[in-house]
Amino acid sequence: MIVLAFDVFGTLYDVGSLVSAAEGIVPNPEAFVRTWRAKQLEYTHLLSMMERYERFWNVTERALRYTLRLFGISLSDQGVEELMGAWLRLRPYGDVPEALARLAERFKLVTLTNGDREMVDALLSNTGLRGFFADLLTADEVGIYKPSPKVYALVERLGVSRSEVGFVSSNPWDVAGAGAAGLTPIFVNRHGLPQEELGIVARVEVRDLRELAERL
Ligand code: 2OP
Repeated sequence: MIVLAFDVFGTLYDVGSLVSAAEGIVPNPEAFVRTWRAKQLEYTHLLSMMERYERFWNVTERALRYTLRLFGISLSDQGVEELMGAWLRLRPYGDVPEALARLAERFKLVTLTNGDREMVDALLSNTGLRGFFADLLTADEVGIYKPSPKVYALVERLGVSRSEVGFVSSNPWDVAGAGAAGLTPIFVNRHGLPQEELGIVARVEVRDLRELAERL
């Protein structure tokens, strides 16, 4: 492997850190954030199948507005803006900064994310991680979302073959998608989840990025 390509949300950043932003705005912040995230992912899949791509930021806001209605909460535009802004200040998992520093000494690191470039660039910069990444590969370049193979194929732009790219994700469906597209799938199993039953098994499975930096 020459390149390591990282999923962003859930792999580098704890989406659960949105809960603190939601406290005081919505009554049941944990359930609210769980539904928001699930709806966000569902909408990426639905919009891809409908061939109606919209950038991840907009999809995230649509999922937020749906979740607010589901929970019966009416929120001012300013409240919506505040919750959306929390996506640009998510908390990286504790193992991430040091592990990226170690891995960056031996591999070229890139992101490979459904997040759009502007959103991911802002998040990485705000949290001090931007410097570890040689390039940002983002779904908005191809106008469809992972797990479409078109998104994983973006790694070819780096002048390497797909199998030379280790794709690192904590989202089991994303690991399966990367393997299906011919990348070398690496599962960072942060939540003790089983891998998907889709006929694709991760080449490497670790608990966190610290373990990955030791194993590779
Ligand atoms: C990503 O960062 C959606 O978590 C997913 O691509």
